[in-house]
Amino acid sequence: MWCDGRVNEDVARPAAGASTTADVGRLGGFAVELAEGAAEVVRRGADRALATTSKSTSTDLVTEVDRASERWLVDRIRERRPDDAVLGEEGGERPGSSGVRWLVDPIDGTVNFVLGIPAYAVSVAAEIDGEVVAAAVCNPVTGEVFRATRGSGAWLGEQRLHGPRAVPLERAVVGTGFGYDRERRDRQGRVAARLLPLVADLRRIGSAALDLCAVASGRLDAYFEAGLNEWDYAAGALIAAEAGCVVTGLRGRRPGDGIVAAGGPALARDFFDLLERLGADEVL
Ligand code: IPD
Repeated sequence: MWCDGRVNEDVARPAAGASTTADVGRLGGFAVELAEGAAEVVRRGADRALATTSKSTSTDLVTEVDRASERWLVDRIRERRPDDAVLGEEGGERPGSSGVRWLVDPIDGTVNFVLGIPAYAVSVAAEIDGEVVAAAVCNPVTGEVFRATRGSGAWLGEQRLHGPRAVPLERAVVGTGFGYDRERRDRQGRVAARLLPLVADLRRIGSAALDLCAVASGRLDAYFEAGLNEWDYAAGALIAAEAGCVVTGLRGRRPGDGIVAAGGPALARDFFDLLERLGADEVL
């Protein structure tokens, strides 16, 4: 599914679970509260960032602060909205009966957190009946909060976001990221090497949530990454789409079905065609 500013009219209408704009607005307000609150937990734990263990591979890190942040998020959701489902990166999964599901990443960019590189974020998204309708991404270091609700635009504080400038591919600064599995990284690296001479430059910032917010706010012209998990991109994808960007998978697929690719409307078609030619979605 293509996801861009044009879908806004559809989502302003009540969805299957009879959600209203007011419901979506309430979810949006709570998403911001959750992201800011968990960011405070992360800020307070910054001196414990070195206590790491690994997950899928030896380089896929988790700290006790990731776990504390997720616990805080899940507890708050349980208190305030006991019937909602939750899916969290660190195993916080809970079924629900309300039709609302929260996708939370307690620290997106854990490696940056461990190293003290100020590019990591708490990412919170709310879905109604499988469609993301509200999102907030908070960087605990800068205090920036990116937010969006479906149909109401994307915001950084009081500033409305309008996506990146209109530049041709050869002038575009493109963000990307790499998974933790070595063989996948090898294939992703080859795609990046072929892309590099065709664009102005590449950035590997280290937080998919912030990458997508960077496209929303024009700090990056475009972004792609294969193999992301839902909690990495759910919030950032809505924020980029609500800023007027095109957020998609490739070859007609939904964002997250293999790859997430995002860019401003002026660049999107050329960028996605190029990614398809390079097989950016064939690295998994
Ligand atoms: C990671 C970051 C990174 C991306 C990886 C993700 P984590 O999330 O978003 O930028 O390249 O694919 O797994 O592990 O720090 O939550």
